[in-house]
Amino acid sequence: MEPNKTYKPCDLVIYGALGDLSTRKLLISLFRLDKADLLEIQTRIIGIDQHDKTDKQFIKLAKKCLEEFLNDSIDETVWQRYSNRLRYLKLDLTQMDQYQKLHDLVDPEARVMVNYFAVAPFLFKNICEGLDQCGILNDESRMVMEKPIGHDLASSIEINDAVSAVFKDHQIFRIDHYLGKETVLNLLALRFANSIFTTNWDHNTIDHIQITVAEEVGIEGRWEYFDKTGQLRDMVQNHLLQILTFVAMEPPVNLEAESIHNEKIKVLDALRPITKCNVEQVTVRGQYTKGFLRADEVPGYLEEEGANTQSKTETFVAIRVDIDNWRWAGVPFYLRTGKRLNHKRTEIVVNFKHLPHNIFKDSFNDLPPNKLIIHLQPNEGVEIEILNKVPGIDGDIKLQKTKLDLSFLETFKEHKIFGGYEKLILEALRGNPTLFLSREEIEHAWRWIDSIQDAWKNSSDIPKPYPAGTWGPISSDSLLARDGREWEG
Ligand code: BG6
Repeated sequence: MEPNKTYKPCDLVIYGALGDLSTRKLLISLFRLDKADLLEIQTRIIGIDQHDKTDKQFIKLAKKCLEEFLNDSIDETVWQRYSNRLRYLKLDLTQMDQYQKLHDLVDPEARVMVNYFAVAPFLFKNICEGLDQCGILNDESRMVMEKPIGHDLASSIEINDAVSAVFKDHQIFRIDHYLGKETVLNLLALRFANSIFTTNWDHNTIDHIQITVAEEVGIEGRWEYFDKTGQLRDMVQNHLLQILTFVAMEPPVNLEAESIHNEKIKVLDALRPITKCNVEQVTVRGQYTKGFLRADEVPGYLEEEGANTQSKTETFVAIRVDIDNWRWAGVPFYLRTGKRLNHKRTEIVVNFKHLPHNIFKDSFNDLPPNKLIIHLQPNEGVEIEILNKVPGIDGDIKLQKTKLDLSFLETFKEHKIFGGYEKLILEALRGNPTLFLSREEIEHAWRWIDSIQDAWKNSSDIPKPYPAGTWGPISSDSLLARDGREWEG
């Protein structure tokens, strides 16, 4: 594909430029975009944080981050171009009079101001007010908001209200980086461009669906944030529910943001509530203890740096989700996600139904049902498990389980697969809202998550320990075993 820079140059202002998100993801993704020739030449990146730093020191820090997180050599020509874009501004986001400094730096007439809020949500209101009061914004300006947007429905409404008081709907870009992942977007293609799937995607043919987002990493120095948040809010409220809505939604009328948002909201609306009556049957919480990952010993959650040893925060969640609508009646979705699991693996497994009658008893007493396995990361690809006759002219027909295997790396050799952030930053710079979340979606998701959180609060059950390097607590297996099923892999 030809690089496409047909958008106005931007001043991308990163609030929280020295923080975790900016230094590990944003500065790296922007470099990759520059390398792919996708950044408009006049576009600048303005880092804002509360520490004293010169432009030169900020540039030096960006280089260090690239050396650590780029996983590639740093092309010197690209680095020269990239480092020329970088500026730094020390600003206390709570002090309204300081925004004048930013006013003096940007030029909204020449460049679209794209404000990336990579700070804790309690600062969002301050930033909006500061930008508004210094008169820097115009109708072209945008804001990009990172999750978590709140820690429950009430706080998310508060944040959305504060932001909406300054930015209009078309200027607000709520990011979930999973929606920029190639394989998540491919779900649209897979489901709605292939009749083999459009006609086999409901309770008539599907038995159940599993969605696993397993992480090898632990808390990565974010104990305080994570302990207040937990895996349910950190991963399920956003990433897992987004994947689930893509898998479960009805065909949208077209690919416009509004059509997709509407269909996703209908799925979120149909999620069966989880309350104190069923929470112990349909959810499992876990917390990792010390263990081994790739032969290295790693500490338990309560032994991590800065830990409160009494914490009951979950680092693992498994949930049986029922979607109460016509398409998915009787088809459970099992979600599981956790930190410090055996290895990084994000996948969707669609398990088709058993056939009603078996004429191949010589090979299998029970014919194993077909499976569609969608590998979201790593090793992006799609596999279908089917039964095949083993070749041979002698004797009876013998069947064997086989795989139709489509690896993205093999099939799309000449195409680079970017991460979610590259895609979404580019869309924000271009002003295309399709892959961003609507306020309604986020609020619907919080409503469902809040009910689980409340039910947990009122339950005597606590997170079950699991050693780092395993697949979570044993009760996660029991969740499926109770329904006569088991986790994939
Ligand atoms: C973030 C969470 O949103 O997603 C992190 O806050 C998590 O806790 C990360 O590790 C996982 O993202 P990815 O792209 O590595 O699957």
